[in-house]
Amino acid sequence: MANVAIIGSGFIGRAWAISYARAGHKVCLWDADGPAPAAALEYIEGVLPELAANDLLNGEEPAAVRARMSSATDLKQALDGVDHVQENTPENLAVKLEVFAMLDEAAPDTAILASSTSALLPSSFTENLKGRARCLVVHPINPPYLVPAVEVVPAPWTSDEAMARTRDFMISAGHAPIVMKQELDGFVMNRMQGALLEEAFRLVANGYASIEDVDIGIREGLALRWSFMGPFETIDLNAPGGVRDYVERYQSIYSRIHPSMMERVDWAGPVLDEVERDRRERLPEDRLQDRQVWRDRRLMALAAHKRRADKDIGN
Ligand SMILES: NC(=O)c1ccc[n+]([C@@H]2O[C@H](COP(=O)([O-])OP(=O)(O)OC[C@H]3O[C@@H](n4cnc5c(N)ncnc54)[C@H](O)[C@@H]3O)[C@@H](O)[C@H]2O)c1
Repeated sequence: MANVAIIGSGFIGRAWAISYARAGHKVCLWDADGPAPAAALEYIEGVLPELAANDLLNGEEPAAVRARMSSATDLKQALDGVDHVQENTPENLAVKLEVFAMLDEAAPDTAILASSTSALLPSSFTENLKGRARCLVVHPINPPYLVPAVEVVPAPWTSDEAMARTRDFMISAGHAPIVMKQELDGFVMNRMQGALLEEAFRLVANGYASIEDVDIGIREGLALRWSFMGPFETIDLNAPGGVRDYVERYQSIYSRIHPSMMERVDWAGPVLDEVERDRRERLPEDRLQDRQVWRDRRLMALAAHKRRADKDIGN
């Protein structure tokens, strides 16, 4: 059992709290905005029964998981005896610089300081800290209690020990860490998502496919395999002789189309009007929130299915 401090208790902070407490760790929430931790705990109390109903609490009752969570009004109290600090303050460099300076000063020397930042490089807000060797990024996908992958990203000065400890800690919390060898803008997942979005916009902008058909290609096609295998395993299984055979057979297709995939599309250009018109016809703006609730329920059902299938079929 480890002690975890959640610094910034908004969307991501409250979701991390669930993930860590479910794994058996003691979690203390803190926020610059006084009432935020209490609001986060109230939200969490609403989510835990749903997770239990989907067998996503490791067989524990919601109350047992909730009992490992607390909040602090004082930062020092939140950091007392802590092993892992998960920072989730707004995506703003000035805020991260200020908060990390505060954390490095107040947290025990042995604690890891991890930022949830979506797209700031760890070197941009940790360079001048005394304890910069224990600082890194642990970037989740929302909500981390349903999506196992997290990106663990070092700054050039992050120690191997901090990376290894964080990797092990993430695995023990039920996560699947992507351990980057060095920092890179966009990390791994946003770069892959960016490549896919760029092509999606290009196909529509250049008049080759409708918006819904692009979505079908992923939703009813590629993503079925991608929900339990990555692109490398996919191609390894898609040719009788494995990955080398796949490349020999099919690389020429991708070499041929590559030049036409290099032309940049302005996502905010005329194509955006078309995408927005189509999306609002399918989903009026006043139903966006309902659909987000639907998405989270589908995600929960998928997480439950994946856990069951891992057990029944193997992973
Ligand atoms: N929302 C997502 O889907 C998502 C996914 C992955 C990563 N992230 C990253 O997580 C971080 C937090 O995002 P969020 O969506 O939870 O934002 P949010 O606005 O929901 O929460 C931010 C919280 O930080 C608090 N805060 C503001 N200044 C602070 C300070 N100086 N010290 C302590 N707390 C402070 C706010 O009161 C608020 O409760 C960002 O870096 C974001 O890029 C977000």
